[in-house]
Amino acid sequence: MTGRPAFFAYMKTKTNIKRRSFVKLIGAAGTLAASGGAGALARAAETPGEKGLAAAPRPLVDGTPAVFAPAAHSATIAWTVNRAALGWVEYGASADRLDLKGGGDADGFTPHDERILKVRLQGLAAGTRYWWRCVTRELTDKGDAPPPVASRIYSFSTLAPAAAETRFVMWNDTHDREETLARLAALTQGGDAPPADFLMWNGDIVRRNNTDASMIPGVYVHPRGGVDLAKGPPVLLTRGNHDVRGLWANKVGDFVDFPDTHEGGARRPFYAFRSGPLGAIVLDTGEDKPDRHPSFYGTAAFEPLIAEQARWLEKIIERPDLKNAPVKAVFCHIPLRWVDEKPQDYFAKPAGFDRFSRRGRDAWHASLVKWGARVIISGHVHRWTHIPADSAFPYAQVTGSGPEPERARLIRGHVTKAGIKLAAFDMDGREVAAVAF
Ligand SMILES: [Fe+2]
Repeated sequence: MTGRPAFFAYMKTKTNIKRRSFVKLIGAAGTLAASGGAGALARAAETPGEKGLAAAPRPLVDGTPAVFAPAAHSATIAWTVNRAALGWVEYGASADRLDLKGGGDADGFTPHDERILKVRLQGLAAGTRYWWRCVTRELTDKGDAPPPVASRIYSFSTLAPAAAETRFVMWNDTHDREETLARLAALTQGGDAPPADFLMWNGDIVRRNNTDASMIPGVYVHPRGGVDLAKGPPVLLTRGNHDVRGLWANKVGDFVDFPDTHEGGARRPFYAFRSGPLGAIVLDTGEDKPDRHPSFYGTAAFEPLIAEQARWLEKIIERPDLKNAPVKAVFCHIPLRWVDEKPQDYFAKPAGFDRFSRRGRDAWHASLVKWGARVIISGHVHRWTHIPADSAFPYAQVTGSGPEPERARLIRGHVTKAGIKLAAFDMDGREVAAVAF
């Protein structure tokens, strides 16, 4: 059996090898290294340990936790740590009765890692509020771990497929902008509006995932602007073209989670769910240029993913709770329709890029029409737009807004059996646009 010292030495070697090879890759990528995530790198370099000063060690837990991938019977708690640790979630029906424990993973381990801890709570009751806290214990090989550290107590509610109505909020294209994130969070978590059942964070959360994996938590788990995602509502994600771009983009999935709607409980960046009368399908539109585009350095394989989603769509639209949903909507980052659909020259300088995903639409349109999708709700184009349904496209297209505070919008959705209302609010909380289907 491998002893703990050997284990830790091995883990360090593995990490170093990984870092060395990426440094090489980034070097080869040239301009990629210069443009990606410099802010995140600067923040990391400011921490006392990295300056070489004899300062106090960083706290065991890094920032606040988040609730991802809420479903009717499950949800994932994720939090990040600054060194090797293990963790679990204590939860229950009230703040003073956290008598349940979520821990062991699918392979029989208590979640442990040097950076990210995730616990999928399973077997929950639908439409039910749970109180919880995450508990973290340093993982040392010396038998002298300090006492575990508990987070504050939070609560979230599982989705309620049988409810008469549902409310949600949408953020999109936040691009790691501090002021926008802070104001979106304040509007979402404060004020007089009825609470939302979920937050759809509809892509382009980051600018580019090209620094290293250490930047990911400060973007996706505890975003800039002091945003505490765990205060709710629980977070559903779509990936935008910026989220899938950069040499570390394939590590984002280690830090977030998606609902388990696939065979065998697999979690993928495309999924479907029911929340009250809303049947929702969430699609991944991938990049905004063809996979072969040289700016991707061979890392993009989204065309096969779009084709796979087409095959999945044909089946998922027949699932009874989705097929019979009174209101059917799609969330995806890149719109499926746009006001100007002229072809782009992807290989010009500067390169053209997709304002709408023709690749996605060509693959998915027939199933979406058959299903009866009423509206596609997207981001990407950085402005509020409503393109009504017509004879060629029996689904409307709505897009959210941009990353700058003056252009950012909080989208509130309210769905009853009669229909869906979408309203856009500016960062002062004023309703500036609305549409109903
Ligand atoms: Fe964007």
